[in-house]
Amino acid sequence: MTSPTPAPWWRTAAVYQVLPRSFADGNGDGVGDLIGLRARLPYLAELGVDALWVTPWYPSPMVDNGYDVADYRDVDPALGGLAEAEAFVREAHDLGLRVLVDIVPNHTSDAHAWFQAALAGDAAARARYLFRPGRGEGGALPPNDWESCFGGPSWTRTIDPDGRPGEWYLHSFAPEQPDLDWRNPEVRAEFLDVLRFWFDRGVDGFRVDVAHGLVKEAGLPDGLGRDRRTEEHPGWDQDEVHEVYRAWREVADAYDPPRVFVAEAWVARPERLPMYLRPDELHMAFEFEPLHVAWREGPWRRVIERSLATAELTGAPSAWALTNHDVVRQVTRYARSQWPERGTNETERARWGSEVPDLALGRARARAAALLSTALPGLVYVYEGEELGLQEVEDIPSARRLDPIHARSGGRDPGRDGSRVPLPWSGDSPPYGFSPPGSPEPWLPQPPGWGPLTVAAQEQDPDSTLALYRRALGLRRTLMTGPLEWCPTDDGLLAFARGTTVVWVNFGPDAVPLPAGMRIALASGPAPDGVLPVDTAAWLVPDEEDPR
Ligand code: GLC
Repeated sequence: MTSPTPAPWWRTAAVYQVLPRSFADGNGDGVGDLIGLRARLPYLAELGVDALWVTPWYPSPMVDNGYDVADYRDVDPALGGLAEAEAFVREAHDLGLRVLVDIVPNHTSDAHAWFQAALAGDAAARARYLFRPGRGEGGALPPNDWESCFGGPSWTRTIDPDGRPGEWYLHSFAPEQPDLDWRNPEVRAEFLDVLRFWFDRGVDGFRVDVAHGLVKEAGLPDGLGRDRRTEEHPGWDQDEVHEVYRAWREVADAYDPPRVFVAEAWVARPERLPMYLRPDELHMAFEFEPLHVAWREGPWRRVIERSLATAELTGAPSAWALTNHDVVRQVTRYARSQWPERGTNETERARWGSEVPDLALGRARARAAALLSTALPGLVYVYEGEELGLQEVEDIPSARRLDPIHARSGGRDPGRDGSRVPLPWSGDSPPYGFSPPGSPEPWLPQPPGWGPLTVAAQEQDPDSTLALYRRALGLRRTLMTGPLEWCPTDDGLLAFARGTTVVWVNFGPDAVPLPAGMRIALASGPAPDGVLPVDTAAWLVPDEEDPR
């Protein structure tokens, strides 16, 4: 009899998202780097994650936090360069940690050699991007009505080498991020080669940036004012994109062990997401609803039900995340009044000036959310600093903000920098051990008051958020193995079983008595006298079971 093949590692993994410039500064220039990350690998192994996802580490002018890539086959010298990256992958593997890196196929940086050649008039290079003549007299108007995700038109006009106004090029994000033409076979071939470049260096997989954006409708017709986030739009989610992923999957499957892809795919019509998860395409896609869903029982239940139904349909596991580098940190989202169903980045940030956050409340809810997300079937992604209970830094001065969303909104929208502030490791004042003593100030300012949230402080406190994450990620491996089954409950309480483990999350309004015959294996806050308080979650095991 042959024993059944074990499920591949990624189907139940906990993955830690690293923003290398904000994680740890090893060389003392105020910017995090791979020396710093390598030195802290034992911290990540001890946290109990299975893999790391490193956001773009390529050479980049850093217009969009590295999502403007100048060279896909190198690592930014400011982070330590390629040799340092190779050493990092080896050392991570030695500690049993897999490594996923980010691939940004929708657009390059305007500093990429291809785009520079395109601007200089090289016809083959221009054909790799989406250059088009303008409309109206003298071509003075953009070729269509599409809007950039960062605000303003999706088109920028170029100047020809002879100094005259030339064609326009498409950029779904900042003007410094020209979109590639994925109908061009050279573009397709180039990225297959880039995938192999990193797989040959031991990388275990990729997070695919803007996976739904690569192919645009032929002819680039007007979007006619349709909202790309909620309606079909010719700039997004075209059927032909699936050919790209089928080719990528062949490359990944040719490796031993096969390499993995996780999609960032914000499709407007959720029923189209499963297409990305067909068995010959991408392995999983982030479940994005938890990034915005209100801290309420009903909306959370609906999100979980939908995700489990997709997992059932596709066979791809749910990939849970409470936060990432693009959204307001959950401590802060939960620290203000809650939306009926969900907010958005824009609505969250719009109320920063008008509603004072109750961070203690936000932190209690974020801890409960951690026990919820780590208890769900599938993978869980943890964004750096989440395990420390960091809040969004809302008061970064305008002049220090770097996210193009801030400038392109005319300063109205603070942008995403507040979730990207360098981590506090030790001490009572900036740089909180992020950089060695005597270094210049970190690249984004850290707030006062983070002393109690440093890793060093939380390691001393058995009730800290860090201690909670360590316990949860450890116990999850043994306690969260069965399928999810809902338990009937009263309004406000979310309850489900995973095998013999029972998970309760109390969204309120009242404390609830815990069930008989069970005891608490882990709780997000104090739960004295057999009662689960509001904004608290608990993992319960039968009285006789040893949770270790
Ligand atoms: C993705 C990234 C985001 C970036 C955008 C453009 O959404 O997560 O940070 O700005 O792509 O590359």
